[in-house]
Amino acid sequence: MLCLYKYVRPAIFKIDPELTHKMTITALKTGAMRPCSVVKSTKLEQDIFALTFPNPVGMAAGFDKNAEVIAPILRLGFGFTEVGTVTPKPQSGNPKPRIFRDPESGSVINRMGFPNGGLRVFKPNIYKFLSSHNRPDGVVGINIGMNKDQSEPAEDYCALISELAPIADYLTVNISSPNTAGLRDLQQKDVLFELLTKMMAARDNACGTEKPPALLVKLAPDLSEQQQAEIAETLLKTKVDGVILSNTTLDRPQSLPQDFAKQKGGLSGNHVRDKSTDIIRNFYKLTEGKLPIIGVGGISTAEHAYEKIKAGAALVQLYTGMVYEGPEIAKNINEGLLALMQKDGFSSISDAVGSDNK
Ligand SMILES: Cc1cc2nc3c(=O)[nH]c(=O)nc-3n(C[C@H](O)[C@H](O)[C@H](O)COP(=O)(O)O)c2cc1C
Repeated sequence: MLCLYKYVRPAIFKIDPELTHKMTITALKTGAMRPCSVVKSTKLEQDIFALTFPNPVGMAAGFDKNAEVIAPILRLGFGFTEVGTVTPKPQSGNPKPRIFRDPESGSVINRMGFPNGGLRVFKPNIYKFLSSHNRPDGVVGINIGMNKDQSEPAEDYCALISELAPIADYLTVNISSPNTAGLRDLQQKDVLFELLTKMMAARDNACGTEKPPALLVKLAPDLSEQQQAEIAETLLKTKVDGVILSNTTLDRPQSLPQDFAKQKGGLSGNHVRDKSTDIIRNFYKLTEGKLPIIGVGGISTAEHAYEKIKAGAALVQLYTGMVYEGPEIAKNINEGLLALMQKDGFSSISDAVGSDNK
């Protein structure tokens, strides 16, 4: 399967995107999709949030919503994986179809609406991974969201933090998916301050005498400069540990075919790349490089990843790139990063972080 991806892709793309995804999860779970050779180099290793990331390339949230394939994803050469978005109760998400590809532009539109099995399914899967033998190296982040019918967001977020903080390497508060009504409004300065204050307290109380996991916030790319400045100030004030930039965009560039562009939901892939890199660069400046940034949006090559790292991202993630480039993508990006670092004279990936701004 691995090296053959470009040959089988046309056949795969004849199948409905959500069904393809389901088949991929099954193939990873059953071992039908085999691990590939992993790039191991101390040059790619970093200690962030008091965790060791073996390389900076992660799987983004939404791919493994129920935490079913943590080990197989890490065995594809990813340095970390972010599972979820998980909500407290199970929910079925929006009506299907709700994922759309446009191979020509390397884009995807999705309006999933957080379909997931809820904590009841999610937690045992995490425990299964944590208690397994031969666990691969790598970090496991947990991305949390509120149920569709929740009118008090803090209740869901704090309940999830209490349940999951003791078993997460890091937690990501998702307030930026465009497919849950009202979610992005939580990015508004005062609302965000109140919510984050409650969540940080819940996080600190959840782990007893143990050190609690890092708490990160994932933002939309569709924020004005003023909103970005206000949010950056709020993140520093509430002492969250990091920020993920970014989720999908509501933009619809002119060049997209009408039939595709008319679909409601968030656009990912090539067309969100520059927007997310711009916001990374801006947040790096706004926070004076003090807040670790995970960069995500349109990464499918080492050059794309490197661009975000030099703009200020300490780590990167991808989802749509896996759809178009296949399961060897993490290995290829890590190999390419080593070559790009050598060309620029960086002996460690951390030296490249934010180097555009120095
Ligand atoms: C089908 C699909 C489902 C997604 N689901 C989630 C999700 O549940 N939670 C989340 O924070 N982001 C979700 N995302 C957003 C991705 O994590 C990522 O932020 C975005 O797609 C940009 O990266 P990419 O261009 O590499 O895909 C999803 C993206 C796609 C394509």
